[in-house]
Formats: sequence, C-alpha cells, structure tokens
Amino acid sequence: MIAVAGDGRWGGRVTRRPLPDDPALDTLSPSLRDTVSRGWFERAAAELQTSAIMAVVCQDVVALRPGSEAARLAARAVDDERRHAEICRQVASRYAGTDLALPVESPVVVPRYDGASEEVERLLRIVAQCSIGETIAAVFLEASLEAARGPLARAATRELLGDDVQHARIGWALLAGCSATTRRGVEPWLLPMLRGYVRLWSAATPYTSMPGVREHGLPTPEDVAAAARRATVEVIIPGFDLLGVTPRGLERQT
Ligand SMILES: [Fe+2]
Ligand SMILES: [Fe+2]
Repeated sequence: MIAVAGDGRWGGRVTRRPLPDDPALDTLSPSLRDTVSRGWFERAAAELQTSAIMAVVCQDVVALRPGSEAARLAARAVDDERRHAEICRQVASRYAGTDLALPVESPVVVPRYDGASEEVERLLRIVAQCSIGETIAAVFLEASLEAARGPLARAATRELLGDDVQHARIGWALLAGCSATTRRGVEPWLLPMLRGYVRLWSAATPYTSMPGVREHGLPTPEDVAAAARRATVEVIIPGFDLLGVTPRGLERQT
C-alpha cells in the first residue's frame, strides 16, 4: 500500500469509506478485464507523476502565497494524488483478479519558462498544472463518470473528480490574487501552454476504443480529446476572461 499522509484528506485512509466491490466483474471476458485493468494501472502511474509535479507546484504556491487557503489545498493535493494512485491501483487489481504492485515512479521534469521572472515562472507552473491540467482532468473525469456503469468504476472516478475540482481552484485563486503586472507577464505563455495540453490529452492517451471499456470508467480516445477541447473552450478560456487575462494570440483567432 502506498504511504498516505496521516493529516491528509481522510486522516491516513485512502477513501472515506472502502471502495465497493462489483461482483459483475467476474462475468466479464478475460480480454475486457485485462484491458480495463491496464487502463486503470496506467492511470495509477499518471497519478503518481501528478503527485510529484504537485509537490513542485506546492512549493510555488507557498512561495507566492504563504499561509493561504491555496497553500493548504496545494499541500493536501500532493497527498490527494498519491491517494488517487492507490485508488487506481486497487481498481486495476480488482479487474486483474490479483493484487498489483504500484507502478515505479519516474523522475519528474520541472517545467521551466526561460525569460520569465521568478514570480511569473512560479505562477505559470501553477496555472499550467492547476488552472489548465486539473480543469481538463475534471471535465475528463466527468465524462468518464457519465459513461461508467459499474459501482467500483463509478465510486473510484467520483473520488478522483471531487479532488481535481479542488486542485483546479488553486490555480484560479492564485491568478485572481496576483498583480496586473504579473498577469500581463503570464499572457504570452498561455496559448502555447493550452495548445500543448490539448495536444497531450488528445494524442498521448493510453485509452482504447475497445467496446465495453467506457462502462468501466475508461473513456475512448475520442472522449478524451473532446473533453480536453470542451474544458478549454467552456471553462479555461472563459475563466481567463473573467480574470481579465487574455492568452496572447487568442484575440486574433476570435
Ligand atoms: Fe489525480
Ligand atoms: Fe488532481
């Protein structure tokens, strides 16, 4: 079992109550179970990676806004993502019919924004991971939940979704509280950042179009790409707009 912080969301537990079982899983074809298990296992690896990036982001939030609610949320988010990894591992194990070990963590590359001031660079990392990445993740998980039918997949997806909505708030809070000068400083970086995220979510998805997987919490690549685009158009760009932030280059396209 992964080490979960004693002062984390559920006081050292992975979830508030244990994830439900889904006896119907035993009637699924071995190939569907194997595919779904691998999909959730890939997610566990991604969640571990997110926890490592969130640890960097947490330092950025603490540096820019010490003692704030956002700093508290960011510290919890590091642990949340580790809990997510464990949740995904448990789901993958149930589908596999055997207790799988957590994926090996790979080293994280800290995003750099050459030429930006230290304050802008910190804010850019926070905006990238939270305002953009976590918002896309939340819309993606909403779409996953809509399609999921099994009680285990639904409960696990709901756990991840509830936290990611909070993680996205960290980025929006930091952006709302920064000076006009800092906001101007981030604008030139936002459009390529947004495009990069949509491309990443659209192309580098580990998900498959195999019939039946959506019912088990794994959307198809088309669902993932649509969620990334919808999050960008319906949530992220309007969010920037509300805060008076205009990703440079976007105004020419609208
Ligand atoms: Fe997560
Ligand atoms: Fe998250």
